[in-house]
Amino acid sequence: MIVLGIESSCDETAAALVKDGNVILSSVVASQTDIHHQYGGVVPEIASRMHIEAIVPVIDKALTRAELSINDIDGVAATRGPGLIGALLIGFSFAKAFAYARHIKFAGVNHLEGHIYSSFLSDPTLKFPFICLVASGGHTNIYYVDSLDSFELMGQTRDDAVGEAFDKVSKMIGLGYPGGAVIEKLAKKGNPDKIKFPRTYLEKESFDFSFSGIKSSVLRYITEHKENIDSKKADIAAGFQAAVIDVLKTKLIKASLIKNCKNIAITGGVSANQTFFKLLLKDAAQHGIKVFAPKKELCGDNAAMIAARGYRLLCNKDYTEFDHDVFSKNKINSAGIK
Ligand code: KG4
Ligand code: ZN
Repeated sequence: MIVLGIESSCDETAAALVKDGNVILSSVVASQTDIHHQYGGVVPEIASRMHIEAIVPVIDKALTRAELSINDIDGVAATRGPGLIGALLIGFSFAKAFAYARHIKFAGVNHLEGHIYSSFLSDPTLKFPFICLVASGGHTNIYYVDSLDSFELMGQTRDDAVGEAFDKVSKMIGLGYPGGAVIEKLAKKGNPDKIKFPRTYLEKESFDFSFSGIKSSVLRYITEHKENIDSKKADIAAGFQAAVIDVLKTKLIKASLIKNCKNIAITGGVSANQTFFKLLLKDAAQHGIKVFAPKKELCGDNAAMIAARGYRLLCNKDYTEFDHDVFSKNKINSAGIK
């Protein structure tokens, strides 16, 4: 079965053609970051307008790259939420219209489940059960995943998402949006132990996160050291990143030990951070735990992960009706994800 996946939850318009849920025939991502960079973050109205312009060319490109025509598509899947309502509506409405016109089945996909599926797509050797971190610009969630359809939410951020914290710190030191990759690069030139930022672990048993404290602490440091801030930027980036990684690592390993599972998968834009991956790999190995991260092109938002999850929903006959709508905040859906 060939599924067309469509993703438009934030500032990437993406389309992919995936065969039988695990063979990526093509995956095209049109990023809007250059435009939003000028404003220091995603402007929802601009994002929606750009999705309208990009959606047809992106799908055309995906078909061309896969050497397929629209007649070859057996099902369609599009992100239903969470995300920006105006942005989601473009991909979701396109998918509904396409499915209706072509008389094919349609599945609305939870974006977070899509990220979880990017783990299997990248590495089919990943076995259940595993602990999965979805770390992006909007979410920092830890799940216990023990089948293709069961995702138990163990913890989530109570304020900022970890990617959002990277983006805000980047903005504070004048590096703009998006901040993750630039902070990681700058941190390589700094000393992670020179400036100590707080590690927030919350209650002893909690798998929740809080990143607003460290963000304020970075801001305070910058305000107090205005005079020669340029010479300190690399140490700020390194100190911030080290603090955030410590918290993520500690909670992920603790979750694996409590659930007695030997695999951790990290997904979402932040999983592209190689420093994080390597440090987690090292600490997890001491407990006999393996760590999986998606291929670079599957870390951030993409439509292959949406097609993969969509394929599963279509196989389960978990179709989405045409009168169903998008949602901005996460909620329990057919697969029980919160
Ligand atoms: O999953 P994603 O593409 O979109 C959302 O669903 O939000 O994640 C984007 C986020 C941004 O906040 C970006 O700064 C962050 O992922 N990110 C990184 C890295 N690359 C992207 N954060 C840390 N290190 C990176 N190398
Ligand atoms: Zn995402």
